[in-house]
Amino acid sequence: MTILDGKKLSEEIKQEIAQEVKEIASKGERVPHLAAVLVGNDGASLTYVGSKVRSCEKIGFQSTLIHLPEDTTQDELLEKIKELNNDEGLDGFIVQLPLPKHIDEQTVLEAVSPKKDVDGFHPENFGRMALGMESFIPATPFGIIEMLKRYNIETSGKHAVVIGRSNIVGRPISILLSNKGQPGDCTVTLTHSRTKNLKEITKTADIIVSALGVPNFVTADMVKEGVVVIDVGITRVPDENAKRGYVITGDVNFDEVSKKASFITPVPGGVGPMTIAMLLKNTLLARHRNMKNS
Ligand code: GUN
Repeated sequence: MTILDGKKLSEEIKQEIAQEVKEIASKGERVPHLAAVLVGNDGASLTYVGSKVRSCEKIGFQSTLIHLPEDTTQDELLEKIKELNNDEGLDGFIVQLPLPKHIDEQTVLEAVSPKKDVDGFHPENFGRMALGMESFIPATPFGIIEMLKRYNIETSGKHAVVIGRSNIVGRPISILLSNKGQPGDCTVTLTHSRTKNLKEITKTADIIVSALGVPNFVTADMVKEGVVVIDVGITRVPDENAKRGYVITGDVNFDEVSKKASFITPVPGGVGPMTIAMLLKNTLLARHRNMKNS
């Protein structure tokens, strides 16, 4: 059994990006610039956005954090997005989700210029991704694909079972795994809360991607020997013995399932760190595409 070490891999990717940033800077050109918009004070979002900004600084990107109050109106947020869309010194930006309840997420995501949409959440990017065209691929599925690629995991003709149909992970990874190429060429089953006989399906899987958000949902009896397991779950489970008062727990019962798996991601240290690395990669891609068009 091989552990898919997302922490190590993400460090390698970040080093590669840092090297490219050095080359851009040595030519006297502007370094990539990423902005993150955070509305309100959701604890997990504050942590994620802080981590994204710190990662930018470490690899030599310029970064801007725009922290707006919880009672920001939708119109005010849309105005800010318009400003960022028109800012020529900015390559890409993200609007951290979830947004407060009084703001319509879809309206906001559609307001982001597809050229600066480094999260890949705009319908234009989603459509282009589904068609195998140049786009921004959402960071989590992009990270999973990169992981499969760098560990040389054969995917052609394999049965991939995706658990969860979210727009951010489940649906895009099911499309990417079915696209032509390596990684890809899988036969994909996308399962969700209404799926019947889930266990019958997962037991036939060569590759399982679980993006459900239910701790320890995938157990040893649900998988076959040799399965490749990608655990996207990052649920905070209260634990009074933990320093922060919670532990990050995956969708997969690691102790059980790792005994049967050929490859498996740990939580934490698997898909999570890859997500930030791929957001940075998308920002670098945005910078290159801007240079090409200027
Ligand atoms: N909230 C949870 N994951 C993400 C992500 O990848 N991007 C943004 N913008 N918000 C998130």
